[in-house]
Amino acid sequence: MTDSVRRVVQITDTHLFADPARELKGIATDAALRAVLAAARDDLTAADLVLLTGDLAHDERDETYQRLRALVAEYVPVDVPLRAIPGNHDDPALIAARFGAATVANLGGWVCVPLDSHLPGQVEGRLSVVELARLDDALRQACGRSVLIAVHHHPVDVGSLWMDGIALTNHEDLFVIIRNHGNVRAIINGHIHQEFEGERDGVRVYGTPSTNVQFRARSDQPLFAELEPGYRRLRLYPDGRIETEVVRVGGVVRNLDLDGGY
Ligand SMILES: [Fe+2]
Repeated sequence: MTDSVRRVVQITDTHLFADPARELKGIATDAALRAVLAAARDDLTAADLVLLTGDLAHDERDETYQRLRALVAEYVPVDVPLRAIPGNHDDPALIAARFGAATVANLGGWVCVPLDSHLPGQVEGRLSVVELARLDDALRQACGRSVLIAVHHHPVDVGSLWMDGIALTNHEDLFVIIRNHGNVRAIINGHIHQEFEGERDGVRVYGTPSTNVQFRARSDQPLFAELEPGYRRLRLYPDGRIETEVVRVGGVVRNLDLDGGY
């Protein structure tokens, strides 16, 4: 099985509330997630790994994570590995309690390393010394295999002034380790609520739409976009190649409330 293609699905920024009817900027995040999961059912069933990349609960309440776990279980078969990492809106301890530790996932000729960039009380992200050491160790052990990193905060500028001000603050530390090992092929992130593709040091960087509200790309202000929610699917090939695309999902009721902050 080590020479076969591996399939990964990324679901991100679900922003659920304890109350399933509650809306975020005019979108019922519960119903929106359900629509995305339903549209992704075939991909989820065939997946070798499903990644939930942060901002999973908007209210950081345990009952919200419990509801999310149950909702995801309706669409992701029990034998499909799942990793959940925290975003700025999350409680890392509650995520670990409900989803388990986000350990390294082995995918044949590939390895996925999920990282925690949550910085308590802050919107921007940071990789702790412990997390950087964990990455360094994982990349050493993955010698000879290709690596996919998953992290909530974006590690490269996306061309949006306000968003790039709340990115992964110590991205230099991350790329020092990446350059030392030379086996990381791609990084996928959440946080930006928009589709993005970039590159740094030969590493592809992919951002993915939220399952609910979308931000306008390349805007210097926090403006919302009239774009459909979505998810990302990736196919990882034994030779280190990646094929990936964002899948947009129609039919989600969006009464975008453009007043007030995010
Ligand atoms: Fe978010």
